[in-house]
Amino acid sequence: MYNEIVMDHFQNPRNVGEIADASGVGEIGNVVCGDILRVYIKVKDEILDDVKYMTFGCGAAVASGSMMTTLAKGKTVEEAKKLTNKDVAKALGGLPPQKLHCSNLAADALHKAIEDWMNKTGKGDKLDG
Ligand code: FES
Repeated sequence: MYNEIVMDHFQNPRNVGEIADASGVGEIGNVVCGDILRVYIKVKDEILDDVKYMTFGCGAAVASGSMMTTLAKGKTVEEAKKLTNKDVAKALGGLPPQKLHCSNLAADALHKAIEDWMNKTGKGDKLDG
């Protein structure tokens, strides 16, 4: 039911784990199934120097988290804020309709981690204004 890209990211997920001295952490729970995805970011000079994630979700959530980290890593905070759940699902080559809700965790959790970083550093005004 999953395509090759999804299977690859499910079986060899990229950037799984925690960042001990993370600049920001974000967590999202899936309202549909109750699964959780947590994202850690390390920001250097307003660039996402490192992005890691952990999930207690299904295979599609594992693949979505993995793809999100590869898309977000190296981007500026501003660029990463624009990354959507749809972008992640598209980069995965699509997900079966009943699994689309699983891809709604990764980008949202990333945005939460960015928010966390902005709150900690007081950068919110500067980035939004
Ligand atoms: Fe919960 Fe996929 S079934 S994230």
